[in-house]
Amino acid sequence: MVNTLASGYGLTEGLILIRGEPGVGKTSVAKLSSAKLKEKLDSLDVVHINCRTYRTPTSVVQRVVSSLLPGVPDRGLSYEEVVLILEKVLSGEDRDLLIVLDEVDYLRDGDTLVYTLLRLHEGDAPKSPTLVVVARWDPPYMMDDSIRSFMVTRLPLEKYTPEQLEAIVRYRAEEALEEGSFDDEIVSKVVELSEHMGNARVALKILYLAARLSEEAGLSKITPDMVSEAASRIGVIGITEDSLTPLDLHDKILLLAVSKRLASSGRSWIKMGDLLEEYRLLCEEVGVLPYKYTAIWKRVRNLKNMGFLEAKKSGEGMKGQTTLISLGSIPADKLQEKLKEILREELSPLASNL
Ligand SMILES: Nc1ncnc2c1ncn2[C@@H]1O[C@H](COP(=O)(O)OP(=O)(O)OP(=O)(O)O)[C@@H](O)[C@H]1O
Ligand SMILES: [Mg+2]
Repeated sequence: MVNTLASGYGLTEGLILIRGEPGVGKTSVAKLSSAKLKEKLDSLDVVHINCRTYRTPTSVVQRVVSSLLPGVPDRGLSYEEVVLILEKVLSGEDRDLLIVLDEVDYLRDGDTLVYTLLRLHEGDAPKSPTLVVVARWDPPYMMDDSIRSFMVTRLPLEKYTPEQLEAIVRYRAEEALEEGSFDDEIVSKVVELSEHMGNARVALKILYLAARLSEEAGLSKITPDMVSEAASRIGVIGITEDSLTPLDLHDKILLLAVSKRLASSGRSWIKMGDLLEEYRLLCEEVGVLPYKYTAIWKRVRNLKNMGFLEAKKSGEGMKGQTTLISLGSIPADKLQEKLKEILREELSPLASNL
């Protein structure tokens, strides 16, 4: 990344896109590489802006200007005015500017901002700033020819693998926790609960909350139960025996129905009607009587409250209103596999054909 941002000739001009799901280290990569770059290039200014806080082109440019020129107020000016000030600042000295637009998914009119910044050199500024755009999803305007032609690199970050998560959790635990307050079992348990998301932030949150809960309970060591408790308080559902086995049989069948339909359709939502149909088929398959609609509806709501399911009303474009159900960040194929395993055990020999 540092090599992409600078060559022997100095700072690379153009646009760099870092993309990836939550907690995969995008902000860390952007911060670390810009800090390294600053060590290499004396003339470099780096402005890291979180677009969740600065959501409009005007507020972003105001923020850039006020961090370069501390006297300038960071509100109250129009877009044209702040852009002019930025041009002046850049034309004054021979300095390089790197702007990181983090969480750009929250930015309104991102195309206007990105386009203006990349074309500042066409006005008074001798050089345009280099842009690092950090996003969870590809911003649609990145595909516009006018912007795409500035793109130097697109860096997609994958979810962390369980091994990588383990290394991160272990490292943080060793740094932050007292020696002897955790062991390998705790590290593995944190990873087990967060690996389906591949999200380092979630893994670390579980670790810290488990440590705090253990401390509050007067324990000298974190226990596996505290890790489970921490995960459930954060709303993380692991695809583990621990979180699935205690569910009522019909809740398990309902979850299996949702995951089965989702996995086979490749979609992220299914209709309530399809869920009912699949649930009834599964009940028949394992030889139990299905509940009626109202009872199912209550169960779905309950599973939603527990964090297993998400539900929303279908919007425009679908005939009639229906409820759509999804598993959120839980992967359908993995959940399906685990539930089948648990149900086979629980219902054997009834469910041998699941
Ligand atoms: N390789 C790593 N080693 C140690 N800690 C890491 C690593 N990657 C990420 N982390 C930690 O995980 C957390 C999430 O990382 P980061 O904020 O960079 O993710 P992100 O992709 O920007 O997430 P979001 O999309 O939610 O903004 C941070 O607390 C960060 O310090
Ligand atoms: Mg981030």
